[in-house]
Amino acid sequence: MNRLDGKVALISGASRGIGGETARLMAQAGASVVIGDVLDDRGQETVKAITAAGGKAQYVHLDVTSEQDWIAAVNRATGAFGKLDILVNNAGVFIGKGIEEISIAEWNKLVAVNMTGVFLGTRLAAQALREAAKSSEHGSAIVNLASIAGIVGSQLDPLYSMTKGGVTLFTKSTALEFARKSYRIRVNSIHPGVIQTDMGEQTFVARASRTGSNDPAPARQMVTESVPWGRLGVPLDIAKGIVFLASDDAAYMNGSGLVVDGGVTAA
Ligand SMILES: NC(=O)c1ccc[n+]([C@@H]2O[C@H](COP(=O)([O-])OP(=O)(O)OC[C@H]3O[C@@H](n4cnc5c(N)ncnc54)[C@H](O)[C@@H]3O)[C@@H](O)[C@H]2O)c1
Repeated sequence: MNRLDGKVALISGASRGIGGETARLMAQAGASVVIGDVLDDRGQETVKAITAAGGKAQYVHLDVTSEQDWIAAVNRATGAFGKLDILVNNAGVFIGKGIEEISIAEWNKLVAVNMTGVFLGTRLAAQALREAAKSSEHGSAIVNLASIAGIVGSQLDPLYSMTKGGVTLFTKSTALEFARKSYRIRVNSIHPGVIQTDMGEQTFVARASRTGSNDPAPARQMVTESVPWGRLGVPLDIAKGIVFLASDDAAYMNGSGLVVDGGVTAA
């Protein structure tokens, strides 16, 4: 189950956090992975850890808002490992400000990374994914990192929510367009709840600042208590879902959204 032997994956924003854990787990599952990020030193460290554990990984500088970087990243995957079977559009940013507080520059950054980045990755990896799909029984796969904030409203960051809502529907539309064109690329999204990463911590800081506090600890406690399963998520919880969606075990999943949130949106 959930094996990726012989597959080649490109993961954006994978120097750390959910993307980093996904790279590690994909390599462990038999894939060759290309990590693309703007945090070059951290990305090289993640590659070192994966290769030290016997996995195959490479790092490439990838700012997801740049077409040239995407072209180079896809070329790196096909050049180093011969093809590209899996794209994980994972890079994302969170601002944590209200509608009346966020600046236009901050909004533009959210849109550039969370939406333009996903669009460019999808467009510029499509040809290579299509090519790999020709010799794969169950085709190639794209997994987009949306959020539960892309399914239900977020009072903490309504603009982040808007970008993730966009990713949710773009996933379904891409699945339909690529199916209509017979590309054999499955496209699905994953919707994490609050996960303990740098971004997860930013959400606690944002909650604390709403109450005029610099201490994120009470916010972390409050959020933890609000999760029906009783704990915050960890990157591995999400990485397992991403590996599943990328694997042939999800061969009949297309245009779907996998919610991994400990029950938060069940209520
Ligand atoms: N942590 C959570 O609670 C949570 C919840 C729901 C969804 N998500 C989503 O999961 C994904 C991963 O988040 P995370 O929690 O691991 O966050 P993180 O901040 O730990 O990691 C995000 C990564 O994206 C990279 N990145 C940022 N801008 C980039 C750019 N322009 N080009 C390339 N890389 C860039 C960062 O350098 C970093 O390595 C994001 O899309 C996020 O929105 C996270």
